[in-house]
Amino acid sequence: MGLSIGVVGATGAVGRKVIEILKERKVPIEKLRVFASARSAGEKLDFNGQEVTVELLTEEVMKDKFDYLLFSAGGGVSEKYAPIAAEAGNIAIDNSSQWRMTEGIPLVVPEVNPHVLKDYRGIIANPNCSTIQMMVALAPLHKRYGIKRIVVSTYQAVSGSGHNAIVELEGQMRDAEHPNQVYPKKIAANCIPHIDVFNENGFTKEELKMVYETQKILEDNTIEVNATTVRIPVFYGHSESIYLEFKEEPDLKEVREILENAPGVVVLDNPANNEYPTPLETANTDDTYVGRIRRDLYNPKALSLWVVADNLRKGAATNAVQIIEVMEAMK
Ligand code: A2P
Repeated sequence: MGLSIGVVGATGAVGRKVIEILKERKVPIEKLRVFASARSAGEKLDFNGQEVTVELLTEEVMKDKFDYLLFSAGGGVSEKYAPIAAEAGNIAIDNSSQWRMTEGIPLVVPEVNPHVLKDYRGIIANPNCSTIQMMVALAPLHKRYGIKRIVVSTYQAVSGSGHNAIVELEGQMRDAEHPNQVYPKKIAANCIPHIDVFNENGFTKEELKMVYETQKILEDNTIEVNATTVRIPVFYGHSESIYLEFKEEPDLKEVREILENAPGVVVLDNPANNEYPTPLETANTDDTYVGRIRRDLYNPKALSLWVVADNLRKGAATNAVQIIEVMEAMK
């Protein structure tokens, strides 16, 4: 018997990716239903050569029986509808930030902490895109050397802000006068150190997501994280410059071996041949790429690395679909 799956926010940048990846990874689906707002209800989407009609999201439809509902329609929609779905006995995998820090709600990167899904039903949170790729790369190093402190700067693609942001960057690349509606400033030929809203401590909400989600996923509230998140004029793929301080002194050769053997990680690190990951070259794949691995010049317990992944895939849709795969394998 195949699965009954619902995609909420199916017409958006992540929702479309979810549908593509369900097909690509051959998730055994018996029934696929897709939901969006009144703006696009009635539109047809393609799934495996079959037309699926976009249904209007309502409280009633969330009470129908689904094996999994995947939410990518923003925090407000998840806040209202995911509990209704969960209350009705459905598993709701939520891509928004709405439920991530709620106690008792699993926050899952399947390569890192699948154990929290055992025997669980209800709302499951997909972490922030920047946190996911950082966790895939760092969790195996944390296990071996213990991470004390992370200083990370991100270089994030516009697709993370949804479909309208892709249109905005395209528009401004063609015409510098194209107005900015999604971002507070022009994004073409620019970079904007401002993702999500500012908190009174000076960090943005996106930066604080990286702090608290990291601690929750690695189950260690003593890890110190200092993040600066930056939007850059790239369509797909987030990059991260990461400085790591460990409790134990890492061996660089062993670090490479650990990363080469880590699930979901590809090491691309041969600077002499210009080999290091870039978002353009790694987009449209599901792996997390690590390069520029080097020891700090002053602190023998610290190193730097560069981590790149496709934010719509591993940073969102693929991670959510992998949660389904892990839960099915645990049955
Ligand atoms: P719609 O096409 O009807 O606007 P993106 O992140 O690319 O902007 O996409 C957001 C997704 O969330 C779209 O599929 C959008 O549907 C959906 N969405 C936004 N608001 C609602 C809502 N109130 N109810 C249902 N779906 C919504």
